[in-house]
Amino acid sequence: MMRSMTVIGSLNMDIVNRVEKAPLPGQTIKAIETSYIPGGKGANQAVAAARAGAKVEMIGAVGVDAYGEILLENLRSSGVGTGGVLVKQDISTGLAFITVDGLGENRIIISPGANGALDPKDIDEAGKLLDEPDLIILQNEIPYPTLAYVFEYFAAKGKYIIYNPAPAFVPPENIYHMVNLLILNETEAAVLTGVKTESIEEVHSAGKILVAQGCREIIVTLGAKGLFYMSSEGTTMYQPAFKVKALDTTAAGDTFVGAYAAAIAEGKPLQAALHFASAASALTVTRKGAQTSIPQRAEINAFLAQDER
Ligand code: RIB
Ligand code: NA
Repeated sequence: MMRSMTVIGSLNMDIVNRVEKAPLPGQTIKAIETSYIPGGKGANQAVAAARAGAKVEMIGAVGVDAYGEILLENLRSSGVGTGGVLVKQDISTGLAFITVDGLGENRIIISPGANGALDPKDIDEAGKLLDEPDLIILQNEIPYPTLAYVFEYFAAKGKYIIYNPAPAFVPPENIYHMVNLLILNETEAAVLTGVKTESIEEVHSAGKILVAQGCREIIVTLGAKGLFYMSSEGTTMYQPAFKVKALDTTAAGDTFVGAYAAAIAEGKPLQAALHFASAASALTVTRKGAQTSIPQRAEINAFLAQDER
């Protein structure tokens, strides 16, 4: 059975400056190239899940401006339902100012705009417009009180909650007992647990801390090093990454989250789901930008088939 999902989170217009070297304090430099690319962790994950073949709705907010329209249109053309995205008066659409240097390293400033104004009553309002999903996907680019409200609301209904705690911060109370699946990278795992996560052993220790706090399953993505999986039932697994030439890692984590959700929603078993999501994410790092780089299902399957040969 194909299960449906709702992503509740941010939509940003990414304003990306490619530079040779990031400017020092007081310095002015010229960009090599400037691009406007649909992004935002919530929207990226929704797009990744829909392109991977899932039935996806988004709940979030944009402002009454041209960027908001472009973001909504891009979601629709990717197959994401936008009935739950509110258009807010008197506030701008979320923006992300991204600098990518010659080494491919990112520096990002988020201007939350409408994302920062998403409140619990918006969730109720948007929720009424949508059918009840089986899976919920959450990140940290909406206000914490709204996030906490969403957790309580959907956990009480017994929904399967996937939480990507990015950008990372330590929540003021334990929300992990409501998390079915936590997907994070090693840096985020370090922030959440306060332990180092440089080696696999350290990642393992961090995983144990998060399981002890109540997460049922955890995936720690390790970039070029692959991923680590752990469940509260005692399963642990390491999977190496696909080898690709990295051009721009923007939205690689988001692609993993969306593609993994799509894989489990269609009933793929654990190993196959991890493989599918890793392949999707590997394709994303070979391309520029956020939503411009997220692959379609057919591309993911072709990549996997080629790898088996
Ligand atoms: O995860 C990548 C995303 O983070 C970008 O698209 C940017 O909008 C920021 O939210
Ligand atoms: Na990318």
